[in-house]
Amino acid sequence: MPNSNKNKIILTGDRPTGPLHLGHYVGSLKARVELQDKYECYFIIADYQVLTDQLNKSKEIEKNIREIVLDYLSVGIDPNKSTIFVQSQIPEIAELYVIFSMLVTFARVKRNPTVKEEIRSSGIKKPSLGFISYPVSQAADILCVRANFVPVGKDQLPHIELTREIARTFNRTFKKVFPIPEPILSKTPVLPGLDGQKMSKSRGNAIFLKDDPKTVEKKVMRAITDPKKIHLGDSGRPEICNIYKYYQAFFPEKAKEVKELCQSGKLGCVECKKQLAKMLNEFLDPIRQKRKDFEQKPKLIKEILEEGRAKTQRKVRETLKMTKEAMGIEYMISNYSN
Ligand code: TRP
Repeated sequence: MPNSNKNKIILTGDRPTGPLHLGHYVGSLKARVELQDKYECYFIIADYQVLTDQLNKSKEIEKNIREIVLDYLSVGIDPNKSTIFVQSQIPEIAELYVIFSMLVTFARVKRNPTVKEEIRSSGIKKPSLGFISYPVSQAADILCVRANFVPVGKDQLPHIELTREIARTFNRTFKKVFPIPEPILSKTPVLPGLDGQKMSKSRGNAIFLKDDPKTVEKKVMRAITDPKKIHLGDSGRPEICNIYKYYQAFFPEKAKEVKELCQSGKLGCVECKKQLAKMLNEFLDPIRQKRKDFEQKPKLIKEILEEGRAKTQRKVRETLKMTKEAMGIEYMISNYSN
């Protein structure tokens, strides 16, 4: 983790594909709430990026943007400290993407392991140019505010590496405009879904921040634990149990106790799940309450996003002006005065 510095800029964000879940909380939201006190933070809601593999769901994006802002606010991301904005509302990012697309070869873009995996798992046989090249667009997301740090999960590292290459190439070819952004890798282990697979909305194995208490309980009770622990008295193996991973992620103190009781056969899975559901609900209660409060102010989300747009756009126009000046293509520069 870098030293605290209010002048340093952080950018990270999400695709608005649906409500955020506990995996998002553990892996990134929790850290963001802390980072916003130490850095100038921008959080991008990457709506264009959704189109890469979900073009048929474009009509759902608007609703999902709303959901994501509510999720952000309810966990404590504070629009008075951080800037939340929607990617497509800053058209200058797309302009930057056009310029960046000239700084990277097609062969380089095709070599991205995360994109390869996403193409495979999406089932799309003939991925669009936009799909294959979205990491270049993500480089524009990051460099448009001249970010110094990008908090991400491991799967995003190839994109940050490409972003760094693009920044270096630009600075070397023209003039130093961009910092070379560093990833901040999430320290917490990835939280599995309740079935042990990767947590995702489509697999139905996720607990959402907005789930009501009954839903949380139902989902936890269905979770897969150690398949060899059949009776209460059987000795369990916490190290392969999904429920135990939730204890570790959310209630590390309690996890120690659970580990012993499970291994010694004193704690059965049903009771163990019941206790976890109760604790998760206690954890989620204030988040749900905050969400409810914000839901009652429907204009608020629009206002937050409008403020975020205005602030981000000022910064990005400055970046684009510097970029074009460095390249000597600033001939219509009056377009970019604020
Ligand atoms: N690709 C990221 C994801 O799927 C979302 C994202 C878009 C992002 N632009 C970004 C993350 C810029 C960090 C920085 O989660």
